[in-house]
Amino acid sequence: MNSTPLKAVVTGGTGAIGTEICRALAQTGMQVVALGHPAEASRIPEWERARAAEGLSIGVELADLADAEAATRAMQCAQQRLGTIDVLVNAAGITRDARFTKMTLEQWRAVLASNLDSVFHCCKPVFADMCARGFGRIVNIASVNGQKGQFGQANYSAAKAGMHGFTMALAQEGARYGVTVNTVSPGYVRTPMTAAIKPDVLQTIVAQVPVGRMAEPAEIAHVVAFLCAPESGYVTGANIPVNGGLYMSA
Ligand code: CAA
Repeated sequence: MNSTPLKAVVTGGTGAIGTEICRALAQTGMQVVALGHPAEASRIPEWERARAAEGLSIGVELADLADAEAATRAMQCAQQRLGTIDVLVNAAGITRDARFTKMTLEQWRAVLASNLDSVFHCCKPVFADMCARGFGRIVNIASVNGQKGQFGQANYSAAKAGMHGFTMALAQEGARYGVTVNTVSPGYVRTPMTAAIKPDVLQTIVAQVPVGRMAEPAEIAHVVAFLCAPESGYVTGANIPVNGGLYMSA
């Protein structure tokens, strides 16, 4: 690698985990653009000011990544800002939890579109270029619940398991061209998403975590930054659990 800074796009980049990922990548010297959801527009100026106060210049583009055209446009805007895209972290995601008997088709489709279709939409404009340039890092943020399933999350567990299937397939296609594709599967992280779980339900879940607490977003970002480093070129197709021991597998 030459000394030109790597250019990174983080989807869900203005969310709790995404913000920490943007920060971690920028602190390694990367130029970063965050993609956020249009519903967050009103809080973006404050988000940008907060990053600037930390000495980090991180651009923001807003788009509903569940929508193919909107996602493609957002990736093109990010590419215009950065020149090239060397690193893509897919961290955009939503929950629509309900036990299956109550789950609507709308809840199913919303989660599959935002969490899984968005990964296709955002990888599509960059993957061929990464292969052509001989370097790329793609990290998909899945979930422990894509590995073990979760009561009330048939939609989310399916989408997150699907993300890792996608990771493994794309990893094989990128391997010869210096493009790694990996999944990071967080457990329960202290974010607005988990704060929306009923307190008694959350307490029961956290009681099952061997480490005995929820994760901090920065603990996820640390692992993502490791995978995005140029030195991590021999790690591909992996699913790295960051779950405090909630789910262990061989
Ligand atoms: N196993 C078995 N039964 C369970 C259960 C479980 N884990 N959790 C709830 N139930 C049972 C209850 O005991 C209750 O039984 P009875 O009807 O016999 O009393 C019944 O399910 C309640 O069902 P309802 O549909 O009426 O429940 P609800 O609407 O109050 O809540 C739920 C359902 C929203 C799915 C709730 O259980 C819940 O929030 N579960 C947690 C889901 C979860 O972990 N979400 C993670 C969000 S964060 C995230 O996704 C990030 C990440 O990657 C980890």
